[in-house]
Amino acid sequence: MGYFRKNIENVKGYEPGFQPKETDILKLNTNENPYPPSPQVMKVLAEISPEQLRRYPDSVGNEFRQAAAEINGVQLENIMCCNGGDDLLTIAFRAFCDENRPVAYPVPTYSLYPVLAKLQNCNAIEVPFDDEFNLPARLASTNAALTIVCNPNAPNGSFISVGELASLADELSGILLIDEAYVDYAEANCTKLVKEFDNVIILRSMSKGYSLAGIRFGYAIAQSDLIAGLMKVKDSYNVDAVTLAVATAAIKDQKYFHETTEKVKKARGLLVAKLCDLGFEAPQSCANFVLAQSKKCKAGKIYDKLVERRIYIRYFNLPGLDDKLRITVGTDEQNEKLILALDEILSE
Ligand SMILES: Cc1ncc(COP(=O)(O)O)c(C=O)c1O
Repeated sequence: MGYFRKNIENVKGYEPGFQPKETDILKLNTNENPYPPSPQVMKVLAEISPEQLRRYPDSVGNEFRQAAAEINGVQLENIMCCNGGDDLLTIAFRAFCDENRPVAYPVPTYSLYPVLAKLQNCNAIEVPFDDEFNLPARLASTNAALTIVCNPNAPNGSFISVGELASLADELSGILLIDEAYVDYAEANCTKLVKEFDNVIILRSMSKGYSLAGIRFGYAIAQSDLIAGLMKVKDSYNVDAVTLAVATAAIKDQKYFHETTEKVKKARGLLVAKLCDLGFEAPQSCANFVLAQSKKCKAGKIYDKLVERRIYIRYFNLPGLDDKLRITVGTDEQNEKLILALDEILSE
């Protein structure tokens, strides 16, 4: 008998996007925000006291919960703090799934879901999207204990309407977890479904819209009974004191958040237009990345040639995605540099 459980031995493990060590590069591969966090964040960070480090943190992060509740129009009891959105996903798999309780999700989507299913040893029912990334009707009838819809979807940025997700929540007998890691860049979100449905959990991340990928913070929004159940599964101190202070400062600075988010959204429109001018197919995206396909040159080749120029984007060597490139939206200057490099590569 090996040391590990069979399913752990067999799982490949999640492969995070490449994090190059060099700083003189153009990094558009892991959907980070091109702008720094709010100045309020840096102020709070500079003022962290030895006492905050000596003591255990608030195990549920009530100051953050209160701030997030006000911003999202819900109550403190509807919020749970997490060590990144990924922490919430792990908690959800542990809370709802096992050998007899499958997970279901449309594909292609965030590649962490199948890894977590294998770790939890639960069956993963993968329902393919159609070419337009419409919500597959079959998702409503899988009988899964946990159904996940990533909205906006990764890695293409498509958005399923709140009404369609309301109908799905209504039809499902299990939990509907709506992964809104990228929702800060969309025109709508599903928060109101939490009031209507006792089986909906919303995932939010502060890695993208709030420029905090380095500190790991995300949160759940759900009805209070669901939050209380999820709290039983989380580590007792799943978010540290520094992260709680920083995340609270960030979410309170809504002015800065809106300013930077709007800049990224504007840059996204320009980037899509310029990619199309170069002959790429690049559908409009509701996230801070675009999925582009060249008819002239293989995606893997473009990726390699960009790396030679110290420009990093994301290439997924996976069925259905291996002819496309996912590009994180940078500042206008960064996007322009990428476009110039792509123009050069396609003219070689
Ligand atoms: C679709 C999706 N969901 C959730 C997450 C988790 O985000 P984090 O753990 O950085 O908050 C990510 C991160 O890239 C993501 O792409």
